[in-house]
Amino acid sequence: MTIKRSKIRRLLQSPETSQRVCIKGWVRTRRDSKTFSFLEINDGSCLANMQVIADHAEPGCDGVAELTTGSAVAVTGALRHSPGKGQKWEILAEQITVYQIAPETYPLQKKRHSDEFLRSIAHLRPRTNKYGAAFRIRSELAYAVHRFFRDQGFIYVHTPIITGSDCEGAGELFRVTSLPPGDFRKLDDVSADRQDFFGKKASLTVSGQLEAELFALALGDVYTFGPTFRAENSNTRRHAAEFWMVEPEMAFCELSGNMDNAEALVKHLVSHALENCAEDLDLFFRFVDKSLPGILETIVSRPFARISYAEAVDLLKQSKNRFEHEIAFGYDLQTDHERFLAEQYFGGPVMVYDYPRGIKPFYMRVNDDGQTVAAMDVIVPGIGEIIGGSQREDRLDMLEARMAETGLDTSEYWWYLDSRRYGSVPHSGYGLGFERMVMLVTGISNIRDVLPFARTPGNIDF
Ligand code: 4AD
Ligand code: MG
Repeated sequence: MTIKRSKIRRLLQSPETSQRVCIKGWVRTRRDSKTFSFLEINDGSCLANMQVIADHAEPGCDGVAELTTGSAVAVTGALRHSPGKGQKWEILAEQITVYQIAPETYPLQKKRHSDEFLRSIAHLRPRTNKYGAAFRIRSELAYAVHRFFRDQGFIYVHTPIITGSDCEGAGELFRVTSLPPGDFRKLDDVSADRQDFFGKKASLTVSGQLEAELFALALGDVYTFGPTFRAENSNTRRHAAEFWMVEPEMAFCELSGNMDNAEALVKHLVSHALENCAEDLDLFFRFVDKSLPGILETIVSRPFARISYAEAVDLLKQSKNRFEHEIAFGYDLQTDHERFLAEQYFGGPVMVYDYPRGIKPFYMRVNDDGQTVAAMDVIVPGIGEIIGGSQREDRLDMLEARMAETGLDTSEYWWYLDSRRYGSVPHSGYGLGFERMVMLVTGISNIRDVLPFARTPGNIDF
């Protein structure tokens, strides 16, 4: 009789005694007594291992004494209550099939490794408890993003990865070309672009916003969720060259509705993780950041503070803190300013709105004061900015003026301007940095450790 294979997670969630089961996974440890071997098997479905008891007299368990850490096996046997300490359930093995014995050079022998070392073996680190847990939580959060928007009737739009425009206007674009490098050097810029694959300059997208806006003005409430790319040469613990962004865009919505939605999304994601990832989260609570349960509880239970940029600048000026960068009206908030507000002043998330127009992109709506735009950032403890968004400039003449002011060629954006020519309405949206969200939930302090394979300046291994 063949026995259907089970995941360890499922077996532990709904165990049945004297059920015969089959699990497949990797040996974490082996201990031997005179007549038995005890194996801890992990299959990646959850943090917990399954204890396997192999009787040396059982013919199907031949060779168990050779199993090493990292070896791959299938185990068939009876699931039973474990009389031992440390686990409720165990499998009494009848048959152990060995796929491969891992040699002693396996780098993940049972001891603690530093995050720096594990980054150098990113191809193996998902096999550790911490990284397995982090990437299971990441997966749950991605699911929760879709659930949040779908439950409110948002339509999911796949905006393009290759684009001909620069949404943020910050010039941090990765060029995309199919021209052989030699040809590129022989041609001047204009003819190179003309002979290139698309017949014009192309790059990887920094944001799906502009395309999301076009869909919002047709389908109402939409969102896009995908990879984005920025050639920012900043080697910080919260910037990556390739990261995922969640970008909702809502028609007939002004700045305050935008802030409400952003706050609800962050709360929803944290609650979802608390409810569905308790075992994995517990690892982070105990070994990564002891203050994390309190931070997450605050996010879920307390309304986010809301202050204008001008108020934020006043608070920062009045504070006795010594900041690395000077602060005055017109200067952008730096990470240490943001963290002061979220960690010391408000002790929780804070939303800052109405930034000076000079430091924000062309698409943000100019306020009646003429000096500020209807921008908003969500700032959280430990990280700083996690969301950036705005109400969009819906008036054609103002938008054209802002594009000229920021040095953009309006003829390149004719399609975007058309959306303000035909049926323009107030609309708003924002971008949530998905990696920063995973950092917030797990307490992991470096973005390199929440990306399966991080792309940062000078680093494209794996
Ligand atoms: O504030 P940003 O640049 O906003 C936009 O891109 C808008 N077009 C979004 C919109 O309104 N639809 O980026 C949004 C968020 C930031 O708050 C941050 O969390 C994250 O994206 N982010 C990065 N995350 C990792 N690495 C980077 N280099 C990031 N740059 C931005
Ligand atoms: Mg921003």
